Amino acid sequence: MFLEDKVAIVTGAGRGIGREIALTFAREGARVAVVDIREETASETAGEAAAAGADSIALGTDVSDAKSAQEAVDNVIDKFGRVDILVNNAGVTADGLIMKMSDDSWNRVLDINLKGAFNFIKAVVRKMMKQRSGRIINISSVVGIMGNAGQANYAASKAGLIGLTKSVAKELASRGVTVNAIAPGFIATQMTESLPDEVKNKMLGFIPVGSFGAPSDVANAALFLASDLSDYITGQVIVVDGGMVM
Ligand SMILES: NC(=O)c1ccc[n+]([C@@H]2O[C@H](COP(=O)([O-])OP(=O)(O)OC[C@H]3O[C@@H](n4cnc5c(N)ncnc54)[C@H](O)[C@@H]3O)[C@@H](O)[C@H]2O)c1
Repeated sequence: MFLEDKVAIVTGAGRGIGREIALTFAREGARVAVVDIREETASETAGEAAAAGADSIALGTDVSDAKSAQEAVDNVIDKFGRVDILVNNAGVTADGLIMKMSDDSWNRVLDINLKGAFNFIKAVVRKMMKQRSGRIINISSVVGIMGNAGQANYAASKAGLIGLTKSVAKELASRGVTVNAIAPGFIATQMTESLPDEVKNKMLGFIPVGSFGAPSDVANAALFLASDLSDYITGQVIVVDGGMVM
């Protein structure tokens, strides 16, 4: 097992990619803290992790709230005594053309996707520095690299996560803490299933491998970055997109 006895926090893990990451880590021996704004879905994932043999807790937390993020991390440290892995996965979209984009939709997407990661990094960083080990993985997007019409807020948040990743990686490298990002392409989850078929078919035309990704494709990259196999890798963005961006 790659994560025996490690303690992992995964945000937005009530469903989709975050859920798959939490369950993959659980199967690899980690104790997992499942964070989601929807407490009942967090509990479902934590229940599945427990069924896979992992010690787990569910935390109903809004990542955009700094105080709640600190409380969530304090809870994890109270229960497990340490924190080895943080995956900042919680994310939302609120699409619209820039001309019509409201302040509210800009602020909401930036607050959850980017500030949420900042909040959780701040909440774990002292503990990881003291431990002289840790893994921080931020879930960005290919849209943060390429941009996308109708997603200025989302693309800005995901590009911001890449700058955050590289800066914090430089600050923490000498303390044994690595910080990397994953940029998924089009992954089949509830976030993407609501898109019209026409848009999905068009997207498919841009994916050289000819199919959408699965949450497990992202979870496997996260497992690599969370494990000792990636000891010498920090400040990187791993693109998991079937060849869309190259
Ligand atoms: N699905 C894709 O194609 C794709 C592609 C690139 C990047 N991503 C990124 O991967 C991550 C997961 O995407 P997904 O497709 O699984 O999405 P999803 O909508 O299925 O899941 C997101 C989860 O985050 C939770 N969440 C939302 N706001 C929150 C908040 N304020 N605090 C805590 N939890 C909150 C939701 O309740 C949900 O459980 C997101 O950051 C997304 O931007 C997804």
